Amino acid sequence: MTSFVYRNGALNAERVPLGRIAKEVGTPFYCYSTAALGESYGAFADAFADRRATICYALKANANLSVIRTFANLGAGADVVSGGELRRALVGGIPGKKIVFSGVGKTRDEMALALDAGILQFNVESVPELEILNEIASERDEPAPVALRINPDVAANTHEKIATGTRDSKFGIDIERALEVYASARELPGISLQGIAVHIGSQLTDLAPFEAAFDRIADLARNLLARGLPMVRLDLGGGLGIRYVDEDPPGVKAYAEMVGRIFAGLEVEFVFEPGRALVGNSGVLVTSVLYIKETSARTFVVVDAAMNDLLRPSLYGADHAITPVAAVADDSPRTTVDVVGPVCETGDVFATARSLPPLASGDLLAIGSAGAYGAVMSSAYNTRPPAAEVLVKDTAYAVVRARATIDDLLAQDSLPAWLALSNAGARGAA
Ligand code: LLP
Repeated sequence: MTSFVYRNGALNAERVPLGRIAKEVGTPFYCYSTAALGESYGAFADAFADRRATICYALKANANLSVIRTFANLGAGADVVSGGELRRALVGGIPGKKIVFSGVGKTRDEMALALDAGILQFNVESVPELEILNEIASERDEPAPVALRINPDVAANTHEKIATGTRDSKFGIDIERALEVYASARELPGISLQGIAVHIGSQLTDLAPFEAAFDRIADLARNLLARGLPMVRLDLGGGLGIRYVDEDPPGVKAYAEMVGRIFAGLEVEFVFEPGRALVGNSGVLVTSVLYIKETSARTFVVVDAAMNDLLRPSLYGADHAITPVAAVADDSPRTTVDVVGPVCETGDVFATARSLPPLASGDLLAIGSAGAYGAVMSSAYNTRPPAAEVLVKDTAYAVVRARATIDDLLAQDSLPAWLALSNAGARGAA
């Protein structure tokens, strides 16, 4: 990641000091780098430049319209999992023909929206879903383009909450049933079979589980072709991991070589659905230190961001690098601290027993690798307006999602007539 670097003693996003943004926008805020987004997309596109492949950015990782538009301008497609994400992809400038629609629970309305948008394909995850899609598409002139998402029953060796490729997970159609379901799908008039989709999990830092799954998928694809079943496209999902602290994930080149080897000789188009690998290291979360709180047991650095802004550490025990925005000498002393947010849960922790230079109230910290599954998973828990989002491009920056005000949050609620009519404080007063 070359986009977040120290210059003149302060951490910059490209050529903008994060401290300047903090002053003007307030903390906490997410900051994304256009150059970093471009670099990671470029690496992916280059790795597959010699084959027919569409890189369908998985919007779930970061669905800010500016991020989507940045990728759209680079030629990306999109992987969406809801009608809302479909709308975002289209408004972001991604053409329907480059959109794939994944997910185990697509509603009829969402299917209709996607048919209206003329998407590239539905990744269908069950027989009942296939039947409903057939019904809806049969009322139209064109059949729905479909890949069956196959569950290859392979453990992904990642956090259990984000592993999707074993038979106990809710995802995909059992690989043992694939031929049978595929053959019966061919008889459905509203379905146009395109191929197979697979996604075994996220933040994979090793190629082995991908290989195991893709081997099975390649066998299945050859089997389908041998039986004369339609097979023009393979969607290999996302999942390539990134470095948060000290992980050593394979690069996209090694991943692409492995794909080339396993699917050698198969004349098909490819779709990839990377999310984290495109945005994870393109963003940081900037937060201010509120208090240094010493207890008899520990030292807590209480910051103004919390689990409502970045849930990953609380939900998955995920480690994110934390660095002071003001440069510190390598040989400056360190202390062992817990970095925590203000939310009233003990689990509202960004780091436990982390070694950091001495900090004081008002210091800024950058929480790294926060571009993926950060802002999108935020909430207003504890009635805390979630962090603002900022996009940097060279020496310029823009707020791409303003921080909601407390009035915005209150305005989302409404009072039923029986409560609105009585003045709460005056009850019984008359
Ligand atoms: N395609 C499908 C069908 C998926 O389910 C996912 C992620 C992706 C693509 C993108 O995967 P990626 O390339 O980003 O690994 N909130 C979790 C991650 C959830 C991933 C869900 N599915 C986290 O913060 O780690």
